[in-house]
Amino acid sequence: MPQLLHIDSSAELETSVSRTLTGLFAQTWREQGADHRVVRRDLHRAQLPHLPDAELHYAKRLRKPGSAPDARAEALQAELIAEVAASDVLVIGAPMYNWSLPSTLKAWIDYIHVLGTTVPFDEPNRPFSGKPVVIVSSRGNTYAPGSHNAGLDFTIPPLREVLGSSLGMQVSVVTAELTLAGRIPPMAPLAERASASLEQAENAVRELAIELGS
Ligand SMILES: Cc1cc2nc3c(=O)[nH]c(=O)nc-3n(C[C@H](O)[C@H](O)[C@H](O)COP(=O)(O)O)c2cc1C
Repeated sequence: MPQLLHIDSSAELETSVSRTLTGLFAQTWREQGADHRVVRRDLHRAQLPHLPDAELHYAKRLRKPGSAPDARAEALQAELIAEVAASDVLVIGAPMYNWSLPSTLKAWIDYIHVLGTTVPFDEPNRPFSGKPVVIVSSRGNTYAPGSHNAGLDFTIPPLREVLGSSLGMQVSVVTAELTLAGRIPPMAPLAERASASLEQAENAVRELAIELGS
């Protein structure tokens, strides 16, 4: 039974572009067949506590002698890792917040990126290797190559590094840019480019959901 893990992190609950796009991905996934399950994790509505103990970054055998992270935090970490392990594909809504990730999404990353458990360290285990993950990033401005802000996107690069290079997942990225064109008057002339970016993102998430769900 193919399972999608649908993750959102936008703090905007009504007009969020990333939520709309991850929702479209999930809907297209469900349309692949009645057996296509979707598991939901909304990191804004149900926020994770910040990682409470640095030792949780290491598998038990790699922790400092005598360390004893809080049992509830350890259980939460195990639950989050098991949720990823049980899913065939992930879609993650990752809006740009202050050039970076929403802190709710960063907290999730801090729980699931664990040396010796999900990342090879002293042993070659890499349980999420090859698992497809689609990152859907919305941003008010443009960070496209050649634009004034090119090189200032610190949302997608860390996600590529952690999920792709380190965890070994197969990363695809969809961006919707200039989402503030309809809100900030001096950006009004960019409205057409914003619509084109959104349309391109909608097509890309539909195509990826079909490709990864079939
Ligand atoms: C806290 C916060 C910080 C933001 N920082 C940036 C930024 O650094 N660069 C940018 O282009 N847009 C920024 N924006 C605009 C959002 O990226 C934009 O509204 C995007 O559409 C948010 O995703 P959403 O529509 O899924 O909520 C910020 C918005 C918020 C709420």
